[in-house]
Amino acid sequence: MNKISIVGAGRVGESTAQTLAQQGMCDEVVLLDVREGAAAGAALDIRQSAPFFGFDVQVTGGSDPALLRDSELVIITAGSPRKPGMSRSDVLGINRAVIDSILDQVLEHAPDCLLLMVTNPVDVLTHHAWKRTGWERRRVFGQAGVLDASRMASFIAGETGISIKDIHTMVIGGHGDLMVPLTRFSTVNGVPATTFLDQDMIEHVNEKTRHGGAEVLALRQTSSAYNAPAAAITTMVDSIANNRRRVLPCVCILDGEYTQQDITAGVPAILGRNGIEQVVELPLDETEQSGFLASIESIRADLEQL
Ligand code: 2OP
Repeated sequence: MNKISIVGAGRVGESTAQTLAQQGMCDEVVLLDVREGAAAGAALDIRQSAPFFGFDVQVTGGSDPALLRDSELVIITAGSPRKPGMSRSDVLGINRAVIDSILDQVLEHAPDCLLLMVTNPVDVLTHHAWKRTGWERRRVFGQAGVLDASRMASFIAGETGISIKDIHTMVIGGHGDLMVPLTRFSTVNGVPATTFLDQDMIEHVNEKTRHGGAEVLALRQTSSAYNAPAAAITTMVDSIANNRRRVLPCVCILDGEYTQQDITAGVPAILGRNGIEQVVELPLDETEQSGFLASIESIRADLEQL
């Protein structure tokens, strides 16, 4: 890829810019923020790390929306993070206004890009972005499941003592307390995860996964998670920029899949250079299906608040 822009030079945006540059994911990374100095300063800091990591990626930052011009991928991380005790839905009103003005800038300066939404509540705002842009659904998607699945994998590694390298997990539904960790679709190098986990361990892992972000926030108090989120975003960018067509859980607009229409939810999808190439339908059992539907209903309820 030539140019990737990240809107929002907060901790998630800045860490993502650093990781994308370090991994040489594109020729140019732009950090955009209404706080000119925050974006320019972060970009300068990242550039100064180039000698250590040996990257030639051009990293710049500023507040002029024209910096978005010709971006092939725009990643939106801007907005108010939740405070301890708040749900992701509690920041919907304030973040919708932020997202609207960013979307207008994207429409003006980067009308052909792919759009990766990160700002919370990510499921609702991804749907909103899709409607506001009027773009094909393949071009508008969100990050949530890659992070939630990585949290699940880390908790399974913690419970079992097995290498994280061999643990593959899947989490679907919304990026909230009703997300659905799918133990049945999680494996240790092809061996069902249930071989290594008893029912108590499964429940513990699932509970920790659902509250993975809240636990970090409660400990830190003044900051949500950003290390794992930046790594999750970079994983998605890698699949897009290198057209790997990995099957990753992404916030997708559903158009008949899982019997759902005109709604977003986290589901596995083939992610490549053209964005979401295919939503993958999992054969859910009754419990998984009802958990997934409950999660979707909460996204619908939030959408009605918009
Ligand atoms: C998280 O789960 C903030 O939603 C983000 O950490």
